[in-house]
Amino acid sequence: MKAALYDRYGSAREVLRVEDVKRPEPGPGEVRVRVEFSGVNPTDWKSRSGATPRPIDGFQIPHHDGAGVIDAVGAGVDPDRVGQRVWLWMAAAGRRWGTAAEWAVVPVYMAVPLPDGASAELGASLGVPALTAHRCLFADGPIDGQTVLVAGGAGAVGHFAIELAKRAGARVVSTVSGPQKAEQAAKAGADLVVNYREPDAADQVRSFAGAAGVDRVVELALGANLQLDLAVIAPDARIVCYAAEPADPVLPVRACMNANVVLRFVLLYGVPADALIQAAGDITDALADGALTELPVVRFPLDETAAAQDAVEAGAVGKVLVAIPG
Ligand SMILES: NC(=O)c1ccc[n+]([C@@H]2O[C@H](COP(=O)([O-])OP(=O)(O)OC[C@H]3O[C@@H](n4cnc5c(N)ncnc54)[C@H](OP(=O)(O)O)[C@@H]3O)[C@@H](O)[C@H]2O)c1
Repeated sequence: MKAALYDRYGSAREVLRVEDVKRPEPGPGEVRVRVEFSGVNPTDWKSRSGATPRPIDGFQIPHHDGAGVIDAVGAGVDPDRVGQRVWLWMAAAGRRWGTAAEWAVVPVYMAVPLPDGASAELGASLGVPALTAHRCLFADGPIDGQTVLVAGGAGAVGHFAIELAKRAGARVVSTVSGPQKAEQAAKAGADLVVNYREPDAADQVRSFAGAAGVDRVVELALGANLQLDLAVIAPDARIVCYAAEPADPVLPVRACMNANVVLRFVLLYGVPADALIQAAGDITDALADGALTELPVVRFPLDETAAAQDAVEAGAVGKVLVAIPG
């Protein structure tokens, strides 16, 4: 099969190449999927470049996320699953068979049925972003009736955080850096979108949250936003951070004590498997309800996987997908 792969860390142009490799067979408890779209995330270029290195087992086909059709199953897997449209998550975590290839092999629970009406593009956009959003929102219990602040609501994680929070009955305010991203966050369903560069951003969030304040913050830039977060949260609020900035923030301990805040950090690679499986089920239910929508899609062909990863590294707005024709 044709696959994008690398066998050492480096820039995309240096180490990522497309070549023929032996098509994998599904082992016990696994399925093989003919991939239609492979979803690209920041973690993919960070793993490939060595910025956050992950072990390479001979070679690595990148990308955790994807969508396609099951065409073979291993021992112990229901043969009726052959022919099923699925979305894939964490395909390349500790395994060489990522989704930037014509076929991928994954444990059966990582190939989740794609409801009728959900496009393959949307299916391939879910994995890392939607699972991260789910964990950030629900690790500390239900959010029905709560006020949630989603930082960076036009980003991939932010987009699904807004949609999942709204579906779960929360009021949602989101921050962005400009009008195009504001439009996107509003389209995802944010009740209020605030430009975090405006000097009165905290006042705008506070007046939306009311006297009670914000109960949950889904945060990706703790250093940049902690002052704003502390200015708008309710006592005992959760700030859940899922991204690292180039430099770690200095923690204002007294201000955090005054706010009685709980800080939580999320890294998908370490979230317990049962929580991820539960999240994948909830995400699929949300898909079936029509509660999740596509971000604007930027497509690349498989031969240009290096350019696709570079686009993500450069901060492409929307979702970067690699299209793999059947
Ligand atoms: N912990 C995990 O398991 C996990 C999982 C998924 C992603 N991540 C990490 O999370 C980050 C985002 O991933 P993504 O896929 O959502 O990326 P993305 O689609 O590129 O979105 C990032 C968004 O953050 C916004 N942003 C940047 N600085 C901001 C600030 N100070 N306040 C508010 N918004 C800000 C960006 O817009 P502006 O620059 O215009 O504001 C952009 O819309 C990446 O670093 C990624 O590696 C971690």
